[in-house]
Parts: sequence; structure tokens; C-alpha cells
Amino acid sequence: MANTRHFLTLTDFTTDELHGLIQRADELKKLFRSRTPHETLKGRVLGMIFEKSSTRTRVSFEAGMAQLGGDAIFLSPRDTQLGRGEPIEDSARVLSQMVDAVMIRTFEHEKVETFAKYSSVPVINALTDDFHPCQLIADMQAYFEVNGDIKGKTVTWIGDGNNMCNSYINAARMFDFELNVCCPEGYEPDAKLLDENKGRVNILRSLEASVKGSSLVVTDVWASMGQEEEAQKRMQAFAGYQVNPALMDKAASDALFMHCLPAHRGEEISHDMLDDPRSVVWEEAGNRMHAQKALLEFLINGKFGE
Ligand code: CP
Ligand code: NVA
Repeated sequence: MANTRHFLTLTDFTTDELHGLIQRADELKKLFRSRTPHETLKGRVLGMIFEKSSTRTRVSFEAGMAQLGGDAIFLSPRDTQLGRGEPIEDSARVLSQMVDAVMIRTFEHEKVETFAKYSSVPVINALTDDFHPCQLIADMQAYFEVNGDIKGKTVTWIGDGNNMCNSYINAARMFDFELNVCCPEGYEPDAKLLDENKGRVNILRSLEASVKGSSLVVTDVWASMGQEEEAQKRMQAFAGYQVNPALMDKAASDALFMHCLPAHRGEEISHDMLDDPRSVVWEEAGNRMHAQKALLEFLINGKFGE
């Protein structure tokens, strides 16, 4: 609906709003850690539609809403009419009369767009085949916490040009950094996004060249949810596209390593990569909750805080 704000990709927010969100996420993290009550969404309810598996996303949204004084309802296609073919438009019109925001994890990105079109409450993309913006706000919070502003830095994406990679392209635009994408031929990110971000995003084939001067190295699984049948073929295509401490040694001296998780040790990362001192994956994962709490406040209350 016309005036309802949504978060389907990072570009739904302005750069100032994204910076404000990270700042508020830091405050919320402090309030959480000091056990200071911060019930800014008392009586509010989040609907959570999951058509794909999740650990982090589900728990971070559910725990986050509880800490903000609200509630969350988990909806799976297995036991709702969504799985029996009720049109997404109808579900959007009904659910948005009962809850204050809806979070959706699904396959086709068009599905979250359709839901948002017919929803009178904010809709949050909790991962589609094309984008994973909630992960990016947590990643940016983690980067800012350790190294300060990412503006002007070089970031390297290694591996599949998938939903996370597309979201890193959007982040490069919104947070003003340069992105090297190192992927095998045929596994590049979205062509339209690449075209729109020419001059900011470079496609490279050499891992070593791609991490040179980089302050953040990021990777993800070779086969995403929904690509299980391609897993064998992908294992071959991505062989060698592995982030390990030796590769990190070739990046900038302040380089951090991130992975949205779950990770496959021995594939896209070496067995020791998550334990490397440059890895901030646990902070990154924990920030999902703080960043999304800030997002929920902003979308539901129209501002950060009460
Ligand atoms: N990173 C992430 O979204 O994790 P889950 O699939 O566990 O939610
Ligand atoms: N690219 C992965 C991210 C999981 C959080 C997937 O879509 O399965």
C-alpha cells in the first residue's frame, strides 16, 4: 500500500536511515547486554512466514520481538493455507489486519514484492533467492564495530554470485565501498545489478588478486537452499574457491572475515577459518538480533525507540 515502508532490499532505505539503523542496533545491543528493559514494541506482533529452513533468522526475530515487549507468530506452509495455494495477495490482505509487520523467507523475490504490494503493514525480506538484506545490516554493524566506517574500503566476495552477493552489491552502493566479486564463470551475480553498479563492482577470477587491499572478505555456501540438486555440479565448479588463513594473509592488514552461516568447513572455508582471529562470524551472527530489532522499531514505530 502506498505509504507503507518495507524492507525488501537495502535500497528501500536511504544511506542515512541505514547508518541510523546501525547506530540504534549498537544501542540496543548495549541495552540487551546490560539487561536494561527496552519495550518499545509493547503489544505489537510480527508474523513470520518461513518457506525455507532457518536457525538464526527465526530465533533473532522471535527473541528480538520478545525483548521489545511484543510477540512473534511462526507460520510455516506445512500447516497454514499458504502451503495449500491460498493466493499471496489474499494472505497479505488478511494477515496485515492482524499483525503489525510481516517477515517472509521464501524462494522467488517476486513473492515478497507481491505480498508487500497488498500488505497494509511493513514487510521484511528475511531471504529470497535473490537477496538477504537482514544479513547485510548485521554484517555492516559488525564491520563498523571493529573497523569503523566501511566507506571507501574494498570488500571481497568469494564464491557464488548468490542472494548474499547481490545484497553485498546493494551494500556497496548504499555504504559507498568497492566490491570485488571472485566467482567461477557462469556463477556471476545478477546482471542488471552489475550493470547498475559498474565502476563499483569488479568481477575477478583470481582469488589472490581479488583480496589484495581488501578490508573485508566474505563468502557463503556453494549451493544455497533450493539448489540441493545442483550440489555435486557446484562442488566441481567452485573447487578452489576457498577462504583460508593463507588467503586472508594476502588481504589488507586490517581485514576481517565474515560468513552469514551456516558454513561448510572444507568447502567454501577451511576447517580453521572460523577460529582465525580475523573472523568475526559469531559477532556477525549475534548482530542479526540487534540490527533487526532496530529495523522493527523503525518500520513499526516509524522511528528508532518508542
Ligand atoms: N544467516 C542466516 O540467515 O541463517 P539462518 O538460515 O539460520 O536463518
Ligand atoms: N545463500 C544461502 C544463505 C543462507 C543464510 C542460502 O540462500 O541458502
